[in-house]
Amino acid sequence: MVRTLIAAGNWKMYKTVQEASAYAEAFLSRVGNFQEVEMIICPPFTALPALSQSLSHSPVKLGAQNMHWEVKGAFTGEIAPSMLKELRCQYVILGHSERRHIFRETSEEVGKKVQSAFAWDLCPILCVGETLEERENGATNQIVEEQLLKGIESLPPEKAHTLVIAYEPVWAIGTGKAATPHDAEEVIAFIRQKLGEKLGQEMVEKIRILYGGSVTPENVFDFVVRPSIDGTLVGGASLDPEKFWKIVQETYRALQVK
Ligand code: PGA
Repeated sequence: MVRTLIAAGNWKMYKTVQEASAYAEAFLSRVGNFQEVEMIICPPFTALPALSQSLSHSPVKLGAQNMHWEVKGAFTGEIAPSMLKELRCQYVILGHSERRHIFRETSEEVGKKVQSAFAWDLCPILCVGETLEERENGATNQIVEEQLLKGIESLPPEKAHTLVIAYEPVWAIGTGKAATPHDAEEVIAFIRQKLGEKLGQEMVEKIRILYGGSVTPENVFDFVVRPSIDGTLVGGASLDPEKFWKIVQETYRALQVK
């Protein structure tokens, strides 16, 4: 089954509002009406209002990089799901490894965020992935399983098909050393097996699983051409509109031969 492929850009803590607007203009001039690949941009919170405006009549969708699970309250520095909805975000990255490792987010917290995202009709992009040490100790599956199952513990079955998982090995993020497509497929097959045990095979066929970690215009084709990989979550290479557009085009080229 060929699912719609995704090219999602995670800008992390890059780009001011002005820079984000300039990017949108440059990127949209290339995209035009192109809709064959689902394109998602996840800028910093401060750029969401400007991009919400500039992307509104385009096929490019908007996502956030994080959120709190509560709807409102005394949580200084946090952003609520309702605030993302108001800005027409459709996606939200949850459990990115930088959140887990630098800001000590736990899998339980990520699970609460996933549940809250579904309650607000936001599609979570749930990130899972092992560190180099965990891989070398043979613990990859164990780590990924823990992050995955706690992440989707309270998944409403009727919305499960909108879930997106991103397999991002921590050692491949921002290092220029991507996993091999073969390694990525191996873990993604394991993720699908675990999802199948929880949600049933029919549902699993609908869930999209991305690869992330040092994706470039040069290597993206080899990932997304694989039957089990439904797109990519791109950090560094998504910061340049020309490179990100190339990634979208390469993703489309893979779709033709899938
Ligand atoms: P990278 O980041 O493409 O710069 O490796 C990927 C990510 O963190 O999502």
